[in-house]
Amino acid sequence: MRKIPVIMDCDPGHDDAIALIMAFASEKLDVRAVTTSAGNQTPEKTLNNALKILDYIGVDVPVAQGAKHPLLRELEVAPEVHGESGLEGPEIPDATSKPLEMPAIDLMRKVIMESEEKITLVPTGPLTNIAMLLLAYPEVKVNIEQISLMGGAAYGGNWTPAAEFNILVDPEAAKIVYDSGLPIIMAGLDVTHKAMIMKEEVEIIRDLDSKVGIFVAELLDFFVKFHDEVWKLPGCPLHDPCAVAYLIAPEIFESKQYAVDIETKGEFTTGMTVVDFNHQTGKEENVKVLLGVDRQKFVDLIVNLVSKYK
Ligand code: BDR
Ligand code: CA
Repeated sequence: MRKIPVIMDCDPGHDDAIALIMAFASEKLDVRAVTTSAGNQTPEKTLNNALKILDYIGVDVPVAQGAKHPLLRELEVAPEVHGESGLEGPEIPDATSKPLEMPAIDLMRKVIMESEEKITLVPTGPLTNIAMLLLAYPEVKVNIEQISLMGGAAYGGNWTPAAEFNILVDPEAAKIVYDSGLPIIMAGLDVTHKAMIMKEEVEIIRDLDSKVGIFVAELLDFFVKFHDEVWKLPGCPLHDPCAVAYLIAPEIFESKQYAVDIETKGEFTTGMTVVDFNHQTGKEENVKVLLGVDRQKFVDLIVNLVSKYK
């Protein structure tokens, strides 16, 4: 089977960690590099978390650190969601592997330009690195297949009433990416809040009784607790795993193609992903907006992928 070559650009993050674990387990994906963004926590912490996760699950892949702050704004982090470390809850050993000396955008450029097949980018944090890549090295565009990202929402937000966290942290970067002309798959809150794992289903993963299974269950324990206390939800939305799951099993998602703009100047709406439902802008429908998912199949996919780690 031809694997889809991907670069994961992430800010781990509980759900980023699960997205990485899924991507490395899937026989449909070939993860060529991991780069880190500043978002859920500071750039040092997200890099450190990515290295720890990759060491723990036993994969060897080039890793590089991305931008230390958004293009134009101060970095906003999310300790209330992911804790002080960005990966609060499970105790796993410190990283022993090291990142490459080169910056994330140079590693991405190298992987993209050296690849015989077009690369799919999978950003699960703010879009700073992807925007910088496209600005600094526009030649990479011809060898990018698509961008499957977690961010935005057709309706509402989770950080402000209008904006989702990843887009809100760096709306200028998001605008560059959304305006790039590259095909975008947007796993926003519309789908991620349907891609929920319930408290009792976490036990299925814990019962796999493998070291990665227990790690995932403990990540979920922390995430479920936060979503219970703050959002009064019966489980937790698995935001970032949607961007990976779509590549593995697109048939379990509902989607529609729309033109999407990013609001960068609104008093109340900065960071909003403005979806042109009624085709009023006349713009090219550049974004596949994920709107629904078969929740049971989504959870089964996660359990199946986690079970591949012995
Ligand atoms: C997004 O923000 C972060 O908290 C998660 O990792 C996810 O990427 C959800 O809004
Ligand atoms: Ca994330």
